[in-house]
Amino acid sequence: KRALNIVNLKKMKQDKIPLTMITAYDYPSASLAEEAGIDMILVGDSLGNVVLGYETTIPVTVEDMVYHTRAVARGAQHTFIVTDLPFMTYHGSIDETLREVRRVMQEGHAHAVKLEGGAEIASTVQAVVQAGVPVLGHIGLTPQSVNQIGGYRIQGKDEKDARRLMEDAKALEQAGAFGIVLELVTEEVAAAISKELAIPTIGIGAGRGCDGQVLVFHDVLKYTSAYREKKFVKTYADIGDQIRSGISEYVNEVKTRAFPGEQHVFAADEKVVDGLYG
Ligand code: KIV
Ligand code: NA
Repeated sequence: KRALNIVNLKKMKQDKIPLTMITAYDYPSASLAEEAGIDMILVGDSLGNVVLGYETTIPVTVEDMVYHTRAVARGAQHTFIVTDLPFMTYHGSIDETLREVRRVMQEGHAHAVKLEGGAEIASTVQAVVQAGVPVLGHIGLTPQSVNQIGGYRIQGKDEKDARRLMEDAKALEQAGAFGIVLELVTEEVAAAISKELAIPTIGIGAGRGCDGQVLVFHDVLKYTSAYREKKFVKTYADIGDQIRSGISEYVNEVKTRAFPGEQHVFAADEKVVDGLYG
């Protein structure tokens, strides 16, 4: 299988082939996503919420993104990897922004970066693209601005907001973004943007008119202790429940001396030990 890149991405839109993206944050999640045939992996700063236990994405640092991207890159060596630039790392000078981008690409081994924002960051997007780094845009609900937006609200509900989103999308395309994530946008507005642009839109809670879909790994698989239902998510497995019951059975078997069993122990004449670390 030939890995997807930003050149064959545009062709997929022309050919009306839906694009698939899922987040991943570590070696096993990345390799499993790759084996499942995903087109692109997003190392999202949602890792702040789903793997680090923060309330928002705001505390996430470039160090966090580099660390997790490295693990993902080792797990998915044949998949296009996009990494989020975290909160406040692309709002200073272009030099400062490019320094953070360099870290994510060179230390993290990402293939592209994602930045939240519209027309107001178009010149930044352009500078990153000119440096040879593919940029994925992200408009609609932009979680890094949650304190400004005043909550996780659906975007594009009135005409003024819809017009602003369309203008932002066009500005990002003009700046050289290879695609745009639309998060929590009304289906009508997301479909109109997708129709207007030559670059693909990747929706999350943005309906059926987008050129692709992205979801958070832990949402798709219920990989959490307390999954909260979200209307825009479909869960395809309940890994959290399986993990809890697997560990609880292990605990129980040790307590009752059912584990280790005869087949798990070594005698003096043991020859080969497989599966060790290191
Ligand atoms: O961080 C993330 O997971 C994201 C997706 C929700 C698009 O940005
Ligand atoms: Na994100």
